[in-house]
Amino acid sequence: MYNVRKVTDDLYWVGANDHRTHLFENIHPIPKGVSYNAYLLLDKETVLFDTVDWSVSRQMMENLEYLLGERSLDWLVINHLEPDHAASIDLILARWPKVKIISTEKGFMLMRQFGFHPDEHEIRIVVEGDTHCFGGHTVTFVAAPMVHWPEAMVTFDLTNGALFSADAFGSFIALDGKLFADEVNFDRDWIDEARRYLVNIVGKYGPHIQLLLKKAGTIIDQIKFICPLHGPVWRKDFGYFIDKYDKWSRYEPEEKGVLIAYASMYGNTEAAAQALAARLCEKGVTNVTVCDVSNTHVSYLISEAWKYSHIVLASVTYNLGIYPVMHNFLMDMKALNLQNRTFALIENGSWASKSGDLMQKFINEELKNMTVLNERLSIASSMGADKAAELEVLADAIVESVKA
Ligand code: FEO
Repeated sequence: MYNVRKVTDDLYWVGANDHRTHLFENIHPIPKGVSYNAYLLLDKETVLFDTVDWSVSRQMMENLEYLLGERSLDWLVINHLEPDHAASIDLILARWPKVKIISTEKGFMLMRQFGFHPDEHEIRIVVEGDTHCFGGHTVTFVAAPMVHWPEAMVTFDLTNGALFSADAFGSFIALDGKLFADEVNFDRDWIDEARRYLVNIVGKYGPHIQLLLKKAGTIIDQIKFICPLHGPVWRKDFGYFIDKYDKWSRYEPEEKGVLIAYASMYGNTEAAAQALAARLCEKGVTNVTVCDVSNTHVSYLISEAWKYSHIVLASVTYNLGIYPVMHNFLMDMKALNLQNRTFALIENGSWASKSGDLMQKFINEELKNMTVLNERLSIASSMGADKAAELEVLADAIVESVKA
């Protein structure tokens, strides 16, 4: 059965939802699913903007067959070659042998690398500023390198104001019938997954996102729809989401608050983390979240780290090092280029406690523009009441820094 949604009178969402894939890119959990968005423009010529993941290609084909009817598909515009969008290219080429393809030079290079067959079709290589008219609609192409791969571009329809934004402005979570961001409570139900999607996938490339935002800024009054490759289409409140993207890509905290991430083997470091959380709340800093790094996928930890201004790392010493999952969290922060946060440390060790010094060294030497508060809580095996004063000092230092 076809399943399409109308964006405008001649532009349709022809994508599909995926609740079967457990790990996006085979690494990030997606318990609420994901959508792969493709869009069909029924102009004088017909145009498909991107395709979908192989797992839902049948749904996209049913959608296209339904909307095209007796018409043929004339053009395939490929903004981004990652297989969650490009996997169905050859299916399209085989079904409509006369379809012509538009993409960037690197896009065609990747198409060939992935084993697709664009050269059996008429192709048009485009660069930034090129335009193409499909009859009534004229589009222009804008380079978006590293958002998320080097070949990426976005396409702007000058006629109806639709910006086909590729991975930019996307989100995890399946659409499940909804299409527009104003059909969901985005700030309540989607923002955490939108952040987790963006920062884990493109977080490393903040400056490239900034560049794209700058380009979008020059046409912001002409944009009527933002049509990403995942998640809902935006037709209002652009400022809300653009502001989030601006903060995330400048590595500025979204909120003043504290992420306490703890690595605990038998619950004693956890107890210290919880005691600190209670002290912070008691002192008026209630925007606090506590995560067990052993039970929280690192993609969620990274998302929370991007959200909050302050991060407390509480770790046991393990093999004379940082507990492995905590070390993995630090490595991911480094890989994704997180910056501009204030850290506080809690260390635990029954003998030869090392985790505090090692975490401090990692933050100072491997991460950029980070501050580590001087006050550190050190516990030996478990935290007794004799540590209450030290805990108080640490909590006061964090509160003062948060409120600064
Ligand atoms: Fe949704 Fe970079 O692909």
